[in-house]
Amino acid sequence: MKQYTVAILGCGTRGKCYAQLVDKKEDFTVAAVCDINPDQIVALKSLCPNSKNIEVFYDENEFLKEKRADAVMIATPDRDHVRQAIAAMELGYDLLLEKPISDDAQELKDLLKVQQQTGRKVIVCHELRYGKGFQKCGELLESGIIGRVYAIDASERVAYWHWAQAYVRGIGASLELGHPAILAKCSHDLDLLQSYAKSECDTLSSVGDLSFFIPENAPENAADRCVDCVHMDTCPYSAKRIYIDAWHQAGEPTYTWPYNKATIHNPITEENLYEGIRNGEYGRCAFKCVVEKVDHQLVQMTFKNGVKASLKMVYAAEPGRKLIFYGTLGEIVFDERTETIEVMPFGKEKEIVDIATLLEGGNGHGGGDAILIDDFCDMIAGRKECSTTLKESLESHFMGIAADESRKQGGVLMKVHS
Ligand SMILES: NC(=O)c1ccc[n+]([C@@H]2O[C@H](COP(=O)([O-])OP(=O)(O)OC[C@H]3O[C@@H](n4cnc5c(N)ncnc54)[C@H](O)[C@@H]3O)[C@@H](O)[C@H]2O)c1
Repeated sequence: MKQYTVAILGCGTRGKCYAQLVDKKEDFTVAAVCDINPDQIVALKSLCPNSKNIEVFYDENEFLKEKRADAVMIATPDRDHVRQAIAAMELGYDLLLEKPISDDAQELKDLLKVQQQTGRKVIVCHELRYGKGFQKCGELLESGIIGRVYAIDASERVAYWHWAQAYVRGIGASLELGHPAILAKCSHDLDLLQSYAKSECDTLSSVGDLSFFIPENAPENAADRCVDCVHMDTCPYSAKRIYIDAWHQAGEPTYTWPYNKATIHNPITEENLYEGIRNGEYGRCAFKCVVEKVDHQLVQMTFKNGVKASLKMVYAAEPGRKLIFYGTLGEIVFDERTETIEVMPFGKEKEIVDIATLLEGGNGHGGGDAILIDDFCDMIAGRKECSTTLKESLESHFMGIAADESRKQGGVLMKVHS
């Protein structure tokens, strides 16, 4: 069997997730990795037993001096993506590129230009496209069972503790390292909406702000770190409850998200978790971090074909995206929380699809992570064509950029493409 290799730039949570999926494949191995943090590389190597002799780099310039594998996966912080993707394409790499790509429309156009000039293949990590439940919704809409879709109501309900992890405590709280929350969290949702609407977004408006994760809302006498806090066993945002108590309750898994955010060391142990929340960024009081992003945002959109959509990005008790499709002949309700798709044609019996029965290969991002990597590897091995294009993936980003601009201007109506 012909063998292929992959290089990984950025060995954090996403880089390790992709590396593990590659390492499990019969005809792929990880050949080279680069991260500025040596501990991340140690952890990645320990999770990839089939990839022997991984070349290691701690500096992207050294790593990007020459092509080191058949393809590269870029999973560094948001603001590194365009620079590194351009350098990689110029070296001749096809690539898997983490989203969000950029919050600057011109930068996105420049990236597209390089991709078109070099002819390289780029798959953006919009893995929800590959999630079975989301695909099933697309098939149902295509079948015409609810007629013509005229409106879509979408919610991205992020678990309250996950929100704090991703946009309050982690690198995701910073606008210097990361992009606005509507792009960082919801480029997936915007991507799905334009694909379900089957049209480019014409205009949108958006509102949102940071109203909760601010020092004034800290519980009385809260300490700077959860391990020192009198509220350690009661506060819903207590890092001890999120990363240690929950880890015990989950049966002490070896190396799994979200516990591998608190400690990057493999194996995860109670000692490593305590060390992580005592000294690392995920153990800080959620109300005393410097948060530069909103903690909720709403977007209203009109597509060029007349379809309307709304999106709510909120933190909630139980996570799960929800999509309601309103059609001329019926309604479809997709709910990740209940793992169901209700298909309700007007005047006919309701049908309920159990999403769990559709999932194969684990359900990270609705099964999408594993299928995304299968798709990418099949493309690299020449077994199939690239199933999405960079140009298609950019559309969600143009929508997100317009939404954030509208929000900053108090909700004014914006043209997505001027
Ligand atoms: N597709 C998704 O659903 C999804 C989910 C979460 C995060 N993300 C995105 O994936 C990217 C990575 O997120 P993560 O959660 O893995 O973050 P992370 O912090 O766990 O990992 C990022 C890694 O990049 C390394 N790094 C930083 N600068 C570097 C450089 N110049 N060269 C090499 N390595 C460098 C860091 O040391 C770290 O190990 C981000 O852009 C994030 O927004 C996407």
